[in-house]
Amino acid sequence: MRIGCVPESLPEWMVLHTGNVPTPLLESLGGLLLTRQLMAGAKLGIFSLLATGPLFAGEVAARLGTAPGATEKLLGALVGARVLAFDQGRFALAPLARCWLDPESPTSLLDSLLFRYDEWRFTENLEQFVQTGRPLDVHRELPGEAWGRYQRGMRSLAGLSAGEVVQRTPVPAAARAMLDVGGSHGFVSVSFCRKYPALSAVILDLPAAVEQAAPILARDLAREKLEGRVVHRAGNALADDLGRDAWDIVFVGQLVHHFDDATNRDLVKRIAHSLRPGGVVVLQEVIRPAAPGEGGQLGALMDLYFALTSTAGTWSFQEMADWQRSAGLSVKAPVRLRTAPGIGLQIARRPA
Ligand SMILES: C[S@@+](CC[C@H](N)C(=O)[O-])C[C@H]1O[C@@H](n2cnc3c(N)ncnc32)[C@H](O)[C@@H]1O
Repeated sequence: MRIGCVPESLPEWMVLHTGNVPTPLLESLGGLLLTRQLMAGAKLGIFSLLATGPLFAGEVAARLGTAPGATEKLLGALVGARVLAFDQGRFALAPLARCWLDPESPTSLLDSLLFRYDEWRFTENLEQFVQTGRPLDVHRELPGEAWGRYQRGMRSLAGLSAGEVVQRTPVPAAARAMLDVGGSHGFVSVSFCRKYPALSAVILDLPAAVEQAAPILARDLAREKLEGRVVHRAGNALADDLGRDAWDIVFVGQLVHHFDDATNRDLVKRIAHSLRPGGVVVLQEVIRPAAPGEGGQLGALMDLYFALTSTAGTWSFQEMADWQRSAGLSVKAPVRLRTAPGIGLQIARRPA
């Protein structure tokens, strides 16, 4: 998957292939505005409003209390981006965008778009990161009011792939206990518990995360009628006792990119001890491309993103499998998620 100049006609396609299109200009200015208009559409409530039905620009402005002329400009740009449709003077969510931008959709990305405001600030550190080699440590540097956006943004992304994660994880027969390390909103645990009626889960996350994630989890549990089956535990996965022979599944989603090799090796070893015989540990991560360009443009961008925003960066399947092997676990073949390109599962089982 690439992000960039996409021709909209045959002549444009031909010019693009001659190399005469100033792509750095279009991709930088166009990319900047494309990103920001999506963020604004989410923040100002345009997508949520239009999810209820088509409206004239003046009606959108009146309902949102925004300036009519400027609102019309933004709506027009969003039509250009194909997230809105325009018909007989009225604006509506484009049919293909509805599943991502309707707040009622199970795959709504609105909360993720709002976290872009924080990521916008993160990217301002890129040049300094390259000059000094010092990345951001988001869990230390995130301001208090941003933790809610972070947790809601993560929940929004989990909706894309949780079903596939559950489907592709070999869960031990009669599994009863799951630990979700750095599990935040807990949607993956909720999804496992929905499929396995005997299963209950504990989500271990930092206190600042649990405070914001608790209402998100409560809402999902109520919707699924799974109240009491998934609970939060505020703590620190690097310091807390994870238990012994306690869990059938330990899930670690998008966490190991925050820690260096020695820390992850130790974490996986402690997880291995905490598993029951036959239990599985699942490391879900953005997979580091083996060579520049190998994971495509998105793989390279994600590699840069995690290098900038976490103290360690992404890992390869082989590196994660090595932690599992040295912890005495039996390593499974890597799984690449179809619903989340670039993200994979490295699963291992504690011998029975
Ligand atoms: C990128 S989010 C991933 C959330 C969730 N697992 C998912 O995949 O959607 C990383 C989570 O790990 C948590 N975390 C970071 N360091 C931690 C630690 N030392 N112990 C427990 N949780 C931690 C963060 O608070 C955050 O909720």
